[in-house]
Amino acid sequence: MSVDIQGLSIALGGVPIVGDVDLHIADHSRVGLIGASGSGKSMIAKAMMGLLPSTATCAGSIRYEGEEIVGMGERELADLRGRYVSMIFQNPGSALNPVLTVMQQVMLPLALHFNLSAVQRKARAAAMLDKVGLDASFGSRFPHQLSGGQQQRVGIATALVGAPKLILADEPTTSLDSITQRQIVRLLVSLADESGASMLFITHDFSVLAHATDDCYVLDAGHIIESGSTRTLLDRPRTSQAQQLVHAARELTLHTGSGGAKASKQERGR
Ligand SMILES: Nc1ncnc2c1ncn2[C@@H]1O[C@H](COP(=O)(O)OP(=O)(O)O)[C@@H](O)[C@H]1O
Ligand SMILES: [Mg+2]
Repeated sequence: MSVDIQGLSIALGGVPIVGDVDLHIADHSRVGLIGASGSGKSMIAKAMMGLLPSTATCAGSIRYEGEEIVGMGERELADLRGRYVSMIFQNPGSALNPVLTVMQQVMLPLALHFNLSAVQRKARAAAMLDKVGLDASFGSRFPHQLSGGQQQRVGIATALVGAPKLILADEPTTSLDSITQRQIVRLLVSLADESGASMLFITHDFSVLAHATDDCYVLDAGHIIESGSTRTLLDRPRTSQAQQLVHAARELTLHTGSGGAKASKQERGR
């Protein structure tokens, strides 16, 4: 699904948080949004889900395949969230419902938004769990019985089970160790490409972005200050803010080896 954001401004209780953001995601493409903590990335994602806090005011335009969602009614937005746009959150532990088993968790969006029988829901959820690398024995587990990486696999399965046309991944790997990060990024990229969904990949980490996207936007204090090919931005960041983000990613890669291309034996078991 294509996304066209034009002149998006968001204020919270009268305080400007995001200013005049233009951002475009072509159908079937993966685009990055990178910026330091507090720069407004999650606020943009929330606006795209129609989930801004009640104290927020929002101006400008967010169009999905030409359809305006700024100012859309709650019922239409709920339908949009359930069927077309899905979000993956930073902290899978708190994004999952602690009293639902993995299977119940993944079946929930199907029960809310799709007209399927219980048998069909179960079959679809099981197939989705298999795709994220969790075998049937995981179905009866609760979130606290899973590792961080496994929890995020459940988060991804829950987000993708309804075959959304747009995936908003808000720092999906930030809470994970560097080896698990790499696995989860690979999984997300392959599932997005397989399903044909477009994706906005939000992060503060250029080393993650380079694996996930071809193009990206750099956000600083609520404004887009640079955009273009992720590779070019990594090699030749123009602004000092982008240079700092690239520098931080290089340091991280040197210290943890997280930029390496090959999976180790140890990595595959997580
Ligand atoms: N509920 C809120 N009330 C007031 N200010 C908020 C709220 N949530 C976020 N902010 C502020 O909005 C700005 C952007 O936040 P956010 O979009 O979460 O940043 P990021 O995701 O880039 O780390 C920050 O300065 C933050 O302090
Ligand atoms: Mg955030």
